[in-house]
Amino acid sequence: MELVAEHLGKRFGTVEALADVSFGAAAGEVLGLLGPNGAGKSTAVGIIAGLVRPDRGSVRIGGDAIGTDAAPAKRRIGLVPQEIALFDELPARMNLRFFGALYGLSGRVLAARVAEALDLVQLSERAGDLPREFSGGMRRRLNIAAALLHQPRLLLLDEPTVGVDPQSRNAIFGTIQALADAGRTVLYTTHYMEEVERLCRRVVVIDHGRVLADDTLEGLMARAPTASRLILSLDASPGPAALAELAALPGVTGTEAVGGELVVLAGDLGAATPRVLECLAARGIRCQALHSRRPNLEDAFLALTGRTLRDA
Ligand SMILES: Nc1ncnc2c1ncn2[C@@H]1O[C@H](COP(=O)(O)OP(=O)(O)OP(=O)(O)O)[C@@H](O)[C@H]1O
Ligand SMILES: [Mg+2]
Repeated sequence: MELVAEHLGKRFGTVEALADVSFGAAAGEVLGLLGPNGAGKSTAVGIIAGLVRPDRGSVRIGGDAIGTDAAPAKRRIGLVPQEIALFDELPARMNLRFFGALYGLSGRVLAARVAEALDLVQLSERAGDLPREFSGGMRRRLNIAAALLHQPRLLLLDEPTVGVDPQSRNAIFGTIQALADAGRTVLYTTHYMEEVERLCRRVVVIDHGRVLADDTLEGLMARAPTASRLILSLDASPGPAALAELAALPGVTGTEAVGGELVVLAGDLGAATPRVLECLAARGIRCQALHSRRPNLEDAFLALTGRTLRDA
């Protein structure tokens, strides 16, 4: 394992940010670190980056312990923090030259790395412009470029797509995929399920400072079995008696009336849907539109934690 975090614990005053968090990531892997607000994600990232001192536990990167300020393992890390850190009055290229110099790069190597990083995040054409004139997504991409100059083996990304336009988001995903394909390890922190589904094969779910699941996406879905959903727009809302009748239909595991919509949960939609429609028709309720969806990671997360990611 390229990254090994073991039994991390961290308390801030009365708040236990991390109780006991362990996970590992292999070279070339994009590992998702998923959890709601306050779960402890940034604290874990800070400890791995050597910026936050843990109360307990250890981190190893490429076999070397992280911890002391001069640790060689630290040079293997590129950190893209949750808060963007750039010099707004310096053109994009100068920002990168500055960050590169901090890593001890100079001369031709520095110039080449800056050009390469700008290219990777698709900002070469804006290299002479000031970050304060950039969109949120472009600022984020520049911040990612700043973390790549010293060619880290491990890239830590802390919610890198918050406030980012779709085009920049795609550019960021492309960058991450290219880095992983080149054998780098990426820890991708987010509370967006669809990003994990798109980028990661494996995901660590944390909440209240503990690991709730460490599994592949498929494993996670299997561990938290959830039903498919049939969502119907009806011309009249079904009363309690109709809802009870629907819920008792064979194959139906639950019903919810949400606004003007009826949601029916069922393991096998093909079998359940005709029964639901018949039941509604018998009561004179007309269906104006219907659609269905398979369970997704959001449903699995809800089943695991009892809360949704966004309003947690
Ligand atoms: N420097 C700090 N001082 C005091 N409390 C802190 C500090 N950093 C984090 N905490 C607390 O620790 C807990 C975990 O915070 P953390 O930032 O790690 O969560 P997170 O999962 O990154 O959340 P978010 O999704 O909001 O970024 C929270 O209750 C937070 O208030
Ligand atoms: Mg955070």
